[in-house]
Amino acid sequence: MIYPEGFLWGTSTSAHQVEGQNVHNDWWDFERRFTPSGAACAFWEHFEADLDRARALGTNAFRMSLEWSRVEPAPGARDEEAAAHYERILLACRERGLRPILTLSQFTLPRWCAAAGGWLSDETLVAFERHARWVGERYGDLVDHFVTVNEPNVQGGAGYVSGVFAPGTRFRPDLADRCEDALVRAHVAAYRALHEAVARRHPAARIAVGPSPHVIAWRKSPWDPLGVFLRLGARFNWRFVDAVVASAPETLDFLGMNYFMGSPAHLMGALRIAGLAARPMKAGTSEMGWPIDAKGFEEALLDAHRRYGRPIVVTENGIADSTDALRPAFLRDHLAALDRAIRAGARVRGYCHWSLVDNFEWHEGYGPRFGLYAVDYATQERTLRPSGELYRRLIEERTTKELVR
Ligand code: BGC
Repeated sequence: MIYPEGFLWGTSTSAHQVEGQNVHNDWWDFERRFTPSGAACAFWEHFEADLDRARALGTNAFRMSLEWSRVEPAPGARDEEAAAHYERILLACRERGLRPILTLSQFTLPRWCAAAGGWLSDETLVAFERHARWVGERYGDLVDHFVTVNEPNVQGGAGYVSGVFAPGTRFRPDLADRCEDALVRAHVAAYRALHEAVARRHPAARIAVGPSPHVIAWRKSPWDPLGVFLRLGARFNWRFVDAVVASAPETLDFLGMNYFMGSPAHLMGALRIAGLAARPMKAGTSEMGWPIDAKGFEEALLDAHRRYGRPIVVTENGIADSTDALRPAFLRDHLAALDRAIRAGARVRGYCHWSLVDNFEWHEGYGPRFGLYAVDYATQERTLRPSGELYRRLIEERTTKELVR
């Protein structure tokens, strides 16, 4: 088999995008400029049924994030009910044979951290390290894969250049870099705190910890004859991981990777992706205007492998496609690219499709639909899309004999 024993086949979600009523974080205030997230997918209440759905896809892993502001709504104040609720969710994953991949930070911060200066403040870093230690103590026997920070390379630019993410500051690339540098420190501190806490509190448990950068398959292109965007793109992809490897190489048990797109076909496309221009739809792109590029997925995996040689977990890959017209081919082509990358030597240990259900797409609100299950937000009903059934079959094929070398 080309897929190693224990390969993680999963779907991916994040707390603020599915749970609903995350009233104590910075996005709850920020999103009023766009679309309030409100009840989102009511995953907080209906997690059992959604985990049944994940199970029905034949997956054995489930990626979710823990909303820090729920368990620590005020500095040092623990919400025990929320903490116990997360324990119930993680147990429900395990009961269904879904190994949880738990993310500590996916774009939101408790409001009190944001008020102290967000990631630009040392107070946040100190609090995040303390939080990671608590998470390790509390859940270290239920979770074996932790993602410290999701898309640290997006957070800075979206928060401080385009301003489409909280805190909504624009045109401050200096602050974007400072934010990314702070997230390097946050990752290293959380990595150490998690391992230390788990070794002390759950000595029998074995955990793997890594970050999940967003990686784009940038290529040479006629509209970029001097390769300026190519260089900026490589910086975007790897600046964070390079800094981790330079300062604390032991803190990468695995490299998470979120892959959605290839190089934009023109300068406007690049500006749109960066949130700096509006977004009309184009053929060959998703409903987000993101260029579909399965070959680029293979290249990105091999690029990461050559650069760092670490085990890789694909923590997100998916497409905004409300009619499910493009997703089936997207899935087939991207999993074929994954097959090729593994055959060529990339040490991929898992693949999680973004997303299990349609959900709150940040500043884009509820328009883009990434789910293998469609959500009717008026009734919270879910409907399996044909691509969900296809994903189940593609996983099945890969766990039977067809892919024997
Ligand atoms: C993020 C998710 C987001 C997805 C689709 C990633 O950039 O980690 O939170 O919903 O892509 O845009």
